[in-house]
Amino acid sequence: MPRTHQAASTRIVAPARKSAAEIEKMRVAGQLAASVLEMIGEFVVSGVSTAELDQRCHDFIVNDLACRPAPLNYRASAHQPPFPKSICTSVNHVVCHGIPSESKVLRRGDIVNIDVTVVKDGWHGDTSKMFFVGEPSVLAKRLVRVCQECLYIGIEQVRPGAALGDIGAAIQHHAERNRFSVVREYGGHGIGRVFHEEPQVLHYGRRGAGARLEPGMTFTIEPMINAGAHPVKTLKDRWTVVTKDHRLSAQWEHTLVVTDTGAEVLTRRREETAFDASGSL
Ligand code: MF3
Ligand code: CO
Ligand code: CO
Repeated sequence: MPRTHQAASTRIVAPARKSAAEIEKMRVAGQLAASVLEMIGEFVVSGVSTAELDQRCHDFIVNDLACRPAPLNYRASAHQPPFPKSICTSVNHVVCHGIPSESKVLRRGDIVNIDVTVVKDGWHGDTSKMFFVGEPSVLAKRLVRVCQECLYIGIEQVRPGAALGDIGAAIQHHAERNRFSVVREYGGHGIGRVFHEEPQVLHYGRRGAGARLEPGMTFTIEPMINAGAHPVKTLKDRWTVVTKDHRLSAQWEHTLVVTDTGAEVLTRRREETAFDASGSL
């Protein structure tokens, strides 16, 4: 998720519309990205390092799926070093962009987000989910559940004629109703041939704000929800984003396309019974 910024002007940018043929390529990329999250689940156990999870995902993406892992060597701007790994692994108070490491060993009670982006035939599929290591605290489980509900409530807003701001408003309402907070500095994004296309998709804000949605637009929704306050800071590695108060943070992400009647979730996993086989809610 790209860093959010105040628009230099009030210009409202909508996600680019894709053709039916382009959407089919994004469907393929999305399903392959989803399959990585399905594959890695059984390996997310106490004692595993996040570097081992990265290596497994990297090998699967490259060798089994014949895709490129988009994060590897990715840089968002010139003053940032290239991302050194193939997935992001964000444990406990890490909000996003956690760098897999041999020294980060998962322990019982941890919650971890694994964020996968694959490129197939030039098109991106971007998705993430939370995993439990053993049995986390009641608070951690509630945070993870509410965050997933935020994603699904955001997806429910998506249909032609809806405003991008309807998504953020619905997510913020649900998070705050549960006494959690919404991270402001990072958002979802348009996606296609480019990893992070315009516009930003905010996870907070006002109903009716921003661009109107039209069929064929493709973007991600990826709420980061904190157990405590919303401010975050970036570590000296210039990638890892953590909560300032060091309390827990969760995130779930899907890539979707606006259809004639709603949304199709391009990165739907088989376990997601909230959507039918076509990816609609
Ligand atoms: N997958 C993240 C997103 O949802 C972006 C990760 S960029 C990386 O937008 F370089 F950290 F991998
Ligand atoms: Co994303
Ligand atoms: Co992602």
